[in-house]
Amino acid sequence: MRFTVAIDGPAAAGKGTISRAVADRFGFAHLDTGALYRAVGVKGGDPVAAARGLTPEDLARDDLRTLEAGQAASRVAVIPEVRQALLDFQRAFARREGGAVLDGRDIGTVICPEAEVKLFVTASPEVRAHRRWLEVGGDEARVLAEVRERDARDMNRADAPLKPAADAVVLDTSEMTIDEAVAAAVRHIETLRG
Ligand code: CDP
Ligand code: CDP
Repeated sequence: MRFTVAIDGPAAAGKGTISRAVADRFGFAHLDTGALYRAVGVKGGDPVAAARGLTPEDLARDDLRTLEAGQAASRVAVIPEVRQALLDFQRAFARREGGAVLDGRDIGTVICPEAEVKLFVTASPEVRAHRRWLEVGGDEARVLAEVRERDARDMNRADAPLKPAADAVVLDTSEMTIDEAVAAAVRHIETLRG
């Protein structure tokens, strides 16, 4: 059985939380594609070479979830050769036997346009920054500025910009608890899965 759930959206919208819950609920494999770009960003050196030579150890680094890694990821993510180097791995993952959920920015638009389910998860910048601030601490205004900066870079790049696929369902989680957001995603998938 091949069944792909594509979950895209801006920073700290709840993509990862929803993806993990969906993978758990339906027994699908989960790929956090942001981790690939974060790993390339923090590796340093030539980003194209880093993307081509990405290893499991690179993906296991414990500094991938920092604000700096997020910024570094979005800077390397504008480079078409970096995106190209990560494409085949993501496509193969999406169509693996047993079902897959991938979360990122371009899953429904570029990586897997044929995905059976496409969700675009979003929330206001203030809500998203507050959620991220609860995770990383520091100055909340700075976290909001970084979220806005990263969103703008992701939306305005030429190659695979962040935007909902034409056939994506938009889920605004600004006013939702995690449980409500997960329940909405699960309901939607159940409807399409039959
Ligand atoms: O993957 P993405 O960056 O889109 O977001 P996430 O890591 O799933 O969620 C960011 C933070 O917001 C996590 O700490 C979640 O627990 C929290 N969250 C929330 O408070 N309410 C939601 N409806 C979704 C996520
Ligand atoms: O968890 P959060 O939403 O904050 O970020 P992430 O999903 O880990 O992605 C980090 C950065 O990688 C994003 O801001 C994008 O620039 C880039 N990215 C991308 O270009 N395409 C993807 N499919 C996933 C991430």
